[in-house]
Amino acid sequence: MSILVTGGLGFIGSHTVVALIKEGYKVVIADNLSNSKIEVLNALENLTNETIPFYQIDVIDEDAVSRLFENQKFSGVIHFAGYKAVGESVNEPLKYYRNNLLSTITLANICQKKGVKKFIFSSSATVYGSNRVPFDETMQLLPTTNPYGETKAMCERILGDLVQANGDFEVALLRYFNPIGAHPSGGIGEAPNGIPNNLMPFITQVATGKLKELQVFGDDYPTPDGTGVRDYIHVMDLAEGHVAALENSKPGVHIYNLGTGKGTSVLEFIETFERVNKIKIPYKVVPRRVGDVAYSYADVSKAKRELNWTAKRNLEHMCRDAWNFEKLNSKD
Ligand code: WQD
Repeated sequence: MSILVTGGLGFIGSHTVVALIKEGYKVVIADNLSNSKIEVLNALENLTNETIPFYQIDVIDEDAVSRLFENQKFSGVIHFAGYKAVGESVNEPLKYYRNNLLSTITLANICQKKGVKKFIFSSSATVYGSNRVPFDETMQLLPTTNPYGETKAMCERILGDLVQANGDFEVALLRYFNPIGAHPSGGIGEAPNGIPNNLMPFITQVATGKLKELQVFGDDYPTPDGTGVRDYIHVMDLAEGHVAALENSKPGVHIYNLGTGKGTSVLEFIETFERVNKIKIPYKVVPRRVGDVAYSYADVSKAKRELNWTAKRNLEHMCRDAWNFEKLNSKD
């Protein structure tokens, strides 16, 4: 029996594949390569010394997913596949609703038909909107400011309703804070297409000289230094959180924050990256980015209590590993 990892060649999916195989799981990857590269599969096989069955399919393609479930036997699925660019989701909302909702519905439907009960879903801290920090899992969700965030909140509700109707389903909704970093080998990491939207990939490209300077989006937030505060988590810690969720899977719908519980401002982040990697990051402060909140960080006590999981790596590790990956993999 294997674990099906959809989006297994993407940033978080690929690191989770490594963590699963390290713990002795057999893994099958389904990925349509829409935002990932086939080379990641070779890198994963090198890192794990395993041949990993790979299916280049779209998870909204019901026939293709059904055939996959005929070919392979699964004890659980981890569903990462989805579009994730916040800005793009504002310009192309239907693309986001169609892909992110239909992939989740299709996969859950086939799991139900085939009796696969363990279902782990990639959600996001974005579902908390502008709640008070620290965000905890019992909070009433507030509207997010973009269709991407709405797809995450909607998928959570869809899976919750499925559990209501079918009580032996075991669903974990994992709300990620800000995943960054890379596998310490530099074999896999975050490789966004085009100009990055997120802070760490933008900074690593400024560090290589590919981009001229970082724009800091606002220094007039009600935070100690005026810049946005986020809970950055090393992608390997996040990956291990998925293994913990799988091992502690139980009937019902269970929500867990996966973060460190620690908030870091943009200026603190830049300072840490510069100190750890001994590289100056030129930046200038520009107006706030639409849709950003001042603060986002997790109350991590539930994951610790129920999954026996806490993040082990700190921001220094994240900066070191992200830069190591960029140096080894940037083309210029
Ligand atoms: C972090 C901080 C920015 C870029 C988003 C999604 C979330 C999740 C992760 C996806 C903020 C500031 C950033 C830059 C900056 N989704 N910043 N200059 O916005 O917390 O979360 O990514 O997969 O759902 O909303 O992450 O890395 O974009 O920003 O000053 O060039 O860095 O304002 O304070 P965010 P981020």
